Amino acid sequence: MTESHFDLVNYLNQKNRIIKDDKKFEPSFIPSQLVHREAELAQMAIHFKSILSSDLHQAGKQLVIQGSVGTGKTVSVKQFGVTLEKISNEQKRGIFPILFVHLNCRRCRSWYLILTRLLRQLVPAFPLRGFSTDELLSFLGKILTEKKIKLLLCLDEFDYLITTSQDRDVLYSLLRHHEGTYFDQAQISLFLITRNPHIETDLDEGIISSLSQGILRFEPYNLDQMSDILSTRANEGLYEESFSSEIIKQIAILAVQRKDARYAIELLWRSAKIAECEKSPFITFEHIRKAEVSVFPVPQSFITELPTQHKIILLALAKLLNNGPTSHKVTTFELRMEYEQLCDSKGVIPRKSTQFWLYLKDLSKQGIIELSVQNRHKDGKSAGRITTLSIIDIPVEKIIELLEGLD
Ligand SMILES: Nc1ncnc2c1ncn2[C@@H]1O[C@H](COP(=O)(O)OP(=O)(O)OP(=O)(O)O)[C@@H](O)[C@H]1O
Ligand SMILES: [Mg+2]
Repeated sequence: MTESHFDLVNYLNQKNRIIKDDKKFEPSFIPSQLVHREAELAQMAIHFKSILSSDLHQAGKQLVIQGSVGTGKTVSVKQFGVTLEKISNEQKRGIFPILFVHLNCRRCRSWYLILTRLLRQLVPAFPLRGFSTDELLSFLGKILTEKKIKLLLCLDEFDYLITTSQDRDVLYSLLRHHEGTYFDQAQISLFLITRNPHIETDLDEGIISSLSQGILRFEPYNLDQMSDILSTRANEGLYEESFSSEIIKQIAILAVQRKDARYAIELLWRSAKIAECEKSPFITFEHIRKAEVSVFPVPQSFITELPTQHKIILLALAKLLNNGPTSHKVTTFELRMEYEQLCDSKGVIPRKSTQFWLYLKDLSKQGIIELSVQNRHKDGKSAGRITTLSIIDIPVEKIIELLEGLD
């Protein structure tokens, strides 16, 4: 038997000298200090202050938060909501408790899911099946009134929730809850978060006029702001001697090019992990370079949390594109064939062409695939249009790895 040179006991006993606390880098972590969002938090406070009053029956408030990827929308609203909830519970002087609920509509894609989640939070034994959306809305109003609780609901990435006119009607009912029949005297306030810069023109008029209370825009962070966010996080999650200000600056430079604080924090964490694996006493520029190539361009949850049909289409496209260096683009026809075969092998019924097309548009809207339409010509004459599909910056092998094993 050959002797192993790997000393497991010694390895496990060795102290990590780079990462002090992994949790500080997790997506769900809310930092104690939100640097450079003071003005936005102040705007929120001005806007929602009145819901801390002792009047239970006054209409709720609504605010749309718009900003591109990684501008701190989610973390700011979460920090604000949790704080408001805490204040309402601490102040006993006739102030009614506020319940803050944050739901991501990319994960909860229907009002049914949203409303049952909410009701379960208010009444843990609430049955999950058997009610229409109208009935659920009506229960929500009744329970809030009975329990004398004010609701502050954050619908994050809410665009995913309002794809049909029925969906828009439900949002409308919530926005105009004081004029409707569902809510009695209940007070419901809403945060609606979106990345869409043209949200005002993309929503219909009824909703827009109800949302006249305003849109708060989150601008991307500049280099100094990104560096501050990174050093605050490094101070919380890393050992002091493990990073330098040059390292922080370099990661900030890379993240500012993408205008994305999430990328900044992930790059810092990956660099730290690589430094740790290499048993280096500190993070070097080489660790950043290695980390850079390993960061996935979109959060992996964007892929793993897609609905089943989207997953099958994406897997079919990734497989076709993985067929060789010449497979840079595929046509909708080729994709449709591969998709039908995959559905067959998984025992899933393939969707009709119109629905299939809607899924493709949805994947393109999320920036996961690229759709391009070109005019074709034959003998100098127009020969119709052709749509091609490709995946730009996510390695297709990784997509296959993520989706292959999933049902
Ligand atoms: N001002 C800040 N201070 C500290 N950390 C921040 C700040 N802004 C963003 N972050 C961190 O950056 C990451 C991305 O922030 P967040 O999830 O809020 O972005 P977002 O605008 O909601 O992006 P998306 O549109 O992709 O959902 C999170 O880890 C968050 O904690
Ligand atoms: Mg977000």
